[in-house]
Order: sequence, then structure tokens, then C-alpha cells
Amino acid sequence: MNHSISLTVNGARRDFVLDDPRVTLLDLLRERLHLTGTKKGCDRGQCGACTILVDGKRINSCLALAISHDGADILTIEGVAHGDQLHPVQAALIAHDGFQCGFCTPGHIMSAIGMMREGQAGNDPERVRECMSGNLCRCGAYAGIVDAVLEAQAGMDESNQRRSA
Ligand code: FES
Ligand code: FES
Repeated sequence: MNHSISLTVNGARRDFVLDDPRVTLLDLLRERLHLTGTKKGCDRGQCGACTILVDGKRINSCLALAISHDGADILTIEGVAHGDQLHPVQAALIAHDGFQCGFCTPGHIMSAIGMMREGQAGNDPERVRECMSGNLCRCGAYAGIVDAVLEAQAGMDESNQRRSA
């Protein structure tokens, strides 16, 4: 039996017919839309490489059935930059050498953006580490990642203050 669902992915509406209700959001994004920036690490909710935002909240897409998210608004790593303009988290990761092989990087970026939207980042490295503890990096680039998130959050706080002044 086929199931029809619609998602908004990085601002564009996409319609799908699923011939298997068990297909995950991760596989849908990678195999049907060829959005391979979202990585499949463990495929069992343990590494965070597959993190995306669904209706503004970060989730592990390997654990999410696509059929359960009919109508959802999805943001993946491919939708984060505006043209040539990187998201502040992306720019800060580059500035702080927050990656080596880069496999975990999309998940870290999406998790950091989700955390900032939750208002959780603040300026406390320990808090950032705790809030991103579901994102693993086998290369051990954690120090740069935390520094980058803190810098991006500080920059965004500053520009919000300027805007409201
Ligand atoms: S691939 Fe989803 S948590 Fe590892
Ligand atoms: S940069 Fe290689 S796994 Fe994180």
C-alpha cells in the first residue's frame, strides 16, 4: 500500500509517495532528494550525524519515520547558508578549525542552530558541551566546535542587540 506525504524541505514543498511506511526521514532526504549533506553514521540514534531541524526542533533523522512527519517543515544543512553567505555557525567552525574529516560537521551545525533557537547556548562552554552531547566527533574536534558555537552565539546576540537598539 502506498502512502502520500508532503514536506517542506529547505523552503520548497516536496511531495512523496512511500511504498514502505518504514522509510526514515534520513533515507528520504538522502536517497529520494539526494540531500547527502545529512550523514548516516550509526543509523541508530547514537552519533548525531543525521541531525536536522523538524518544525524548528533538532532530531535524529535516522530515528524519524517520514510518514510520521507529513506536513513538517524540514531544514537540512543544504538550507542553512544564504547563497554565498555562510550561517554564523558555519563561518565560526571554519575560523576555529572545528572539524577534521568533516563527517560529523553537518550534524554539529544543525544541532548548534537548534540549540541556539532553543535559547540554550548562552556563553557557558560546559552548557554547550552538555546540550550537544548527542553529537559525536571521532576526530575529537570538540574544542574547536565549542569555541565556534560560543563565538557564533555571541555574534548573534550582538547583532540582535544592535537591531533592537
Ligand atoms: S545516524 Fe542518526 S544518530 Fe547516528
Ligand atoms: S571532524 Fe571527523 S568525525 Fe568530526
